[in-house]
Amino acid sequence: MNSIKRLSTALFALLMILAGSCSRNQAGKNDVEGRVEKLLAQMTLDEKIGQMSQLEVGMVGTEENLKKAVRDGRCGSLLNCWGVERVNELQRVAVKESRLGIPLIIGRDVIHGYRTIFPIPLGMAASWDPEIVKKAFRIAATEASSQGIKWAFAPMIDITWDPRWGRVAEGCGEDPYLASALAKAMVEGFQGDSLTDPTSIAACAKHYCGYGFPEGGRDYNTTYITEPVLRNVVLKPFKAAKDAGALSFMSAFNDLDGVPASGNEFTLKQILRKEWKFDGLVVSDWGSVPEMVVHGYATDAKDAASKAINAGVDIEMATTTYFDNIKSLLEEKKITQEEIDNSVRNILRVKFKLGLFDNPFVNPEAQKSILEPASLEHARKVARESIVLLKNVKNTLPLSTGISSVAVIGPLADSPRDQLGTWCFDGNAENSVTPLKALREVLGDKKVIFVAGLTYSRDKKTDQFSKAVAAAKKSDAVIFFGGEEWILTGEGQCRGEINLPGAQSELIAELVKTGKPVILVIMAGRPLAIGNEIDETGAVLYAWHGGTMAGPAIADLLFGKESPSGKLPITFVKGSGQIPFYYYRNNTGRPGTQQSWTPIDSIPVENPQTSLGYKSFQLDYGFTPLLPFGYGLSYTTFAYSDLSLSALSMKTDGSIVVKAKVANTGNMDGDEIVQLYIRDRVGSITRPIKELKGFKRIHIKKGESADVEFTLKGEDLAFFNGKITATEPGKFDVWVSTNSDEGLHGEFVIE
Ligand code: BGC
Repeated sequence: MNSIKRLSTALFALLMILAGSCSRNQAGKNDVEGRVEKLLAQMTLDEKIGQMSQLEVGMVGTEENLKKAVRDGRCGSLLNCWGVERVNELQRVAVKESRLGIPLIIGRDVIHGYRTIFPIPLGMAASWDPEIVKKAFRIAATEASSQGIKWAFAPMIDITWDPRWGRVAEGCGEDPYLASALAKAMVEGFQGDSLTDPTSIAACAKHYCGYGFPEGGRDYNTTYITEPVLRNVVLKPFKAAKDAGALSFMSAFNDLDGVPASGNEFTLKQILRKEWKFDGLVVSDWGSVPEMVVHGYATDAKDAASKAINAGVDIEMATTTYFDNIKSLLEEKKITQEEIDNSVRNILRVKFKLGLFDNPFVNPEAQKSILEPASLEHARKVARESIVLLKNVKNTLPLSTGISSVAVIGPLADSPRDQLGTWCFDGNAENSVTPLKALREVLGDKKVIFVAGLTYSRDKKTDQFSKAVAAAKKSDAVIFFGGEEWILTGEGQCRGEINLPGAQSELIAELVKTGKPVILVIMAGRPLAIGNEIDETGAVLYAWHGGTMAGPAIADLLFGKESPSGKLPITFVKGSGQIPFYYYRNNTGRPGTQQSWTPIDSIPVENPQTSLGYKSFQLDYGFTPLLPFGYGLSYTTFAYSDLSLSALSMKTDGSIVVKAKVANTGNMDGDEIVQLYIRDRVGSITRPIKELKGFKRIHIKKGESADVEFTLKGEDLAFFNGKITATEPGKFDVWVSTNSDEGLHGEFVIE
């Protein structure tokens, strides 16, 4: 092992010497644009096509074929290639053996950690803590770059209103403001303080755009998004990512109002390039260029390539329509040399900015950063902050460490791979610390009676139930770890019903019958419809798929080492039939009310039609969701008071300071996420009933209080009305609150 290490360190030293001679051939170091132009002028058309083509390493067969492709300038970037020696060797071929010595950029999906796995992004969003998320992405970048990865296909910042969609797990939830704050943090974490730092990796904002709005929640499906929703909701986090300096964007699979996102001149050229002045690169999603033929938007692969290039997709991922067709498309004047040159400029610019020309190789020493104790400790902290307490009657939680025994039941109590969640190619299940292991560490083996009860989340077999019930009867408390296996979420993994799968609900009901306090810990990749299970049990912690350190993080909260502090980043619905249900919906002309709602079972048989309320509700579900956006309890209690506004009116370019006092009135220190919402009462188009415009996570000691202050600017209230983006004069409501459904209320006017 040591001799291999010594060899790769020696190889690295040699490579650094080669890199030095290669960089001396380049133009002035800080003049990125000058270097781009100088290099572009030397490139042949074949070399330009190579830069625009990304190879997935599996596509080429042998390593020799791969090296030949790199040597021939056939590809400018690689997908799914990692490891110090392999990357350094391929990079050596690129910089020493290809004609112009252009370094490769190696890309990989690093979605919520590389080897140290953090909670799924939806879980991280529940922390409402951009600082810890930024640090998580910094750790991910440090680990990934140590393996030669310089480009992450993340952050995934698709807003969605549909928890059936499997990729809900991968995004930041439903809200554009929260998702924008997190998108910024994620990009900054990946790209670090200096792009040329060896631990910095290029971020890729994806999937641009509208991918989170598939009809029926079925992945890849058609989207219809009005331009106000596109600009006021969907694009917000992408703009935040661009403003944070994201070096790349990925064009999505879906069609948007009839035009596939990977051939969409409006979103890619008009908005991204012209309006936002993005000068990084755009990569297609895997196969999204030729899929335009299947969409029925391009006649064949060649036509698809022409449409993608003309729309401004610089690199084609994994497929070869660019490689096969660019030459003939140029000859036929279907695309221009200028389009090609601009794409190559965008690609080279990213490579120069990342310092790849000057420092293309990976230092083997960097691998020490993998799974460092401090990184694992951070993963535990992020997991802890992401857990949301949904219910806690009669102080069921926290448990005392002096408890004489607990029954640990459920398919996710000891399922190391499941807790890592979807989209983590490089996380290892053997590094996971499961809840069972963590509980045994806290209480000792003897006090923990473990019976899975169900082998996996979809298991319908009830033969272990009696054993589980017997364990419950013998214990002082029951902790049921349920939810979803990781494979039920993620790309292509959509569900029609978002209930607890398998026989979990039946098992929970059996455990409740024992009369013992039952605590539910849900580990899932989406907000599940668990109204009945919440009603039946004493306490519920929603822990998402919490990553490598999920177990210790859950144990920290079960035993009150800290108080839970996460808040929901997405509305929880009562059942799939309520989807979509998001908190910033418009009011309708007939909003549902308690008085108007006629529950389905209360309607007399053969009732006349006119008595059924005629308001916006469902007979079975009513007009409210299961749990609102922003919701989350604590072991302590917080009281809000003293709302004040620095002025009752402002100009469109002015600002108002909104203040409130938050007191910790309970028995434990804790964090509270204080939220600021507004409502624009009347607009040139109808406006949402609430919009998040600020939040702060604050730590308040028991018995103490904190003054919280938000500055609300007129420009924060601007919206796109179908024609222009502007702040409109009129009356506004403002709330400072603990979730999107309540709060201290004030009013102001924009003149
Ligand atoms: C996904 C992308 C991912 C790409 C490369 C695609 O199937 O949609 O999110 O980055 O594969 O792995």
